[in-house]
Amino acid sequence: MTKPHILLTGPMMPLIAEGVAKSFAVHQLPASGDREVLLAGIASDVVAIATGSHTGVKTDQALIARLPKLRAIGNFGVGYDSIDVDAAAKRGIIVTNTPDVLNEEVADTALGLMLMTVREFGQAEAYLRAGRWPREGDYRLTPSLRDRRLGIVGLGRIGKAIARRAEAFGMPIAYFGRSKQAGVAYPYYSDLAELARAVDILLLIAPGGPATKGIVDARVLDALGPRGILINVARGSVVDEPALIAALKARRILSAGLDVYLNEPNVDPALLALDNVTLLPHVGSASVWTRDRMGQLVVDNLAAFATGKAPLTPVPETPFKGW
Ligand code: 8YV
Repeated sequence: MTKPHILLTGPMMPLIAEGVAKSFAVHQLPASGDREVLLAGIASDVVAIATGSHTGVKTDQALIARLPKLRAIGNFGVGYDSIDVDAAAKRGIIVTNTPDVLNEEVADTALGLMLMTVREFGQAEAYLRAGRWPREGDYRLTPSLRDRRLGIVGLGRIGKAIARRAEAFGMPIAYFGRSKQAGVAYPYYSDLAELARAVDILLLIAPGGPATKGIVDARVLDALGPRGILINVARGSVVDEPALIAALKARRILSAGLDVYLNEPNVDPALLALDNVTLLPHVGSASVWTRDRMGQLVVDNLAAFATGKAPLTPVPETPFKGW
C-alpha cells in the first residue's frame, strides 16, 4: 500500500523525520530556490504537514490553499503563531501542538534568564574571562531579586510553572492576561501598562500572533520605568523591538533578558551592542529531554491521523470531530 504524503516545512530532528517516515512518504521543503519545483510535484498529494517556528516557513493561507488534500498540521512547539489556524479551521484541517511536555523546561529557562539579567551573571563571567578580576578587583555590585515584584504576562500552563518557582524565591507576583482566572490569588491587571507600573520585572510568556503583536510598547516600557527589567521567553512579536532598544539605550528601563526576537535567527545589531541586555538564542525548551518529548508528540499526533485515531493534542481553534 502506498503511504500518505507529508510535507516537512524544513529540517526536523531525526526523531521526527524518522518517526513520521514510518507512516508517511516524506518530502522536505528545501531551504530556498526550488521550493516551487518541489511543491508543483507533490502539492496535490500532500495530506499532512510537520512544521515548527524554527523552519522559518509560515504555514499561511497561501500554503494551505496550495494543498487541496491537507487534513493535519503537526507543530513542533507549544506556540503555533507561524500557522494560520483560522485558514486551517475553515478547511476542517486539524492543527496539533506540543503542550505540557515543555512547561518545566521553559519555566527553568525563564528563571535562569531572570537571574542572569538581574545579577548580570553573563557580564560577570565575561569580566572574569577577560582577566579583569585580578587586575581591577571584584565585579561591581548588581541589582537584586530581593526588592523586586514580578509581573507575568500570560498566566497559562508555563506561566504558572514560572509563578511556582518565583513564589519559592519569595517574589510577590501579579499577572496580566485575557481575563482574570478563577482560583488564582495573584493580583490581576486588565491593563498591561498598569501591571508594568506595579512591578519591577515584567516577564512575557503569552502566545504570539495578532492578539499580542507589539503589546509591550513604549508606553508599557515607560510604565515599567528606570529600575524595571523586561524578560521575554514568549515571542519576539509581543514586544515593539525598536521601542525596547530605544528604552534600553536611554536607560528608561534598567535591562532586559531576551530568548526570542522579531527576526529570528537574526538579532538586531543594536541589541548586540548594548551592555544592559542578556541574550539567549531561543533555547527555552532546548534540552535533549524536553525536545525528545516534544518530537515524540509531533510523531504521535501525525501517526494518529495516519491510522484514523483521535489526535492527542489538537489546538483549541481546530477541535477534533473526526478525520
Ligand atoms: C521551540 C517554542 O523552539 O514551543 C515553542 O513554542 O518556541 C520552542 O519550544 C520551537 O517551537 C521550535 O520550532
